[in-house]
Amino acid sequence: LRKDGLAKIKEATDEKKLNEVRVELVGKKGELTKILHSMKEVAPDKRREVGQRVNELRDLFNEQLDGTKEEILKALAQKKLEEERIDVTLPGKRGHVGSKHPIYLILDDLEALFIGMGYQVVQGPEIETDHYVFEMMNLPKDHPARDMQETFYIDSENLLRSQTSGDQARVLEKHDFAKGPLKMVGPGKVYRRDDDDATHSHQFMQMEGLVVDKHVTMGDLKGTLEMIAKHVFGADRATRLRPSYFPFTEPSVEMDVSCFNCDGKGCPICKYTGWIEVLGAGMVHPNVLENAGVDSSVYGGFAFGVGLDRFAILKYGVDDIRDFYTNDVRFLGQFRKED
Ligand code: PHE
Repeated sequence: LRKDGLAKIKEATDEKKLNEVRVELVGKKGELTKILHSMKEVAPDKRREVGQRVNELRDLFNEQLDGTKEEILKALAQKKLEEERIDVTLPGKRGHVGSKHPIYLILDDLEALFIGMGYQVVQGPEIETDHYVFEMMNLPKDHPARDMQETFYIDSENLLRSQTSGDQARVLEKHDFAKGPLKMVGPGKVYRRDDDDATHSHQFMQMEGLVVDKHVTMGDLKGTLEMIAKHVFGADRATRLRPSYFPFTEPSVEMDVSCFNCDGKGCPICKYTGWIEVLGAGMVHPNVLENAGVDSSVYGGFAFGVGLDRFAILKYGVDDIRDFYTNDVRFLGQFRKED
């Protein structure tokens, strides 16, 4: 029985077979139990010895059964490990990842630049009020310059903002000048009733900028604008300021950068001027400060509004502004950074 039993245990190569062997050897109806049940047939003086040997054998079988079971489980785990082995030296499969939108490439870059100079970044609502977009910005209801921006009105007071300049008023109202100068940029979407074509979109992106403190000069504005242009377009790009008009700045300027296409000589893209307009700016109008409760005899500042689409068009040589808003992955994929 002993020899036979041990051989059977050895032969069992999986868990199921091993269980069968266990039942057969040490189970309730197994060989050993049978012997114990038939003890009365054994001569009384031999019973003790037989009982002892049966117990010994059962312990041995149990021990062997447990050992074999452990081996089987170990082998199974090992096999599983082998099957799931990963060769970490093989090149990985690149998942399909999206790319940053070109306008956000410009925006994130500029934001980082301004944060580095201590500006705060604010975001105003896209559905704005006439109050902030116009009235607070020195554009009362009957002001002719309202026509400069073809505005989508929702009702007489609410509109889709046609410029981010309302952010200026919102921040000015709240700023505590006892705690230091105000320096902010406010990026975001704006909307205008323009017919879409290669250079116009009814929705585009602006970044407002505002600095207010004592003794802020036009020189500060010029330096800041030149720095933006050189940061985005490279140190060699020439810039110039042209006088302009905005109701919320006085004096007002527009900045041009020298045309990339013809390198300043003149071509259809710059309408043979050699220059391309990229932003509007100026010294904050005293009325804008007073409207927000800021004493214009003490404080002054400059403001600018960057057309981020314009920046992106020029920087990346895009010839149709609509490409930014039609989500064609073939277009967007060109801006993927390989790493
Ligand atoms: N808001 C102006 C525009 O949309 C740009 C601007 C901003 C001009 C700030 C001056 C100062 O055209």
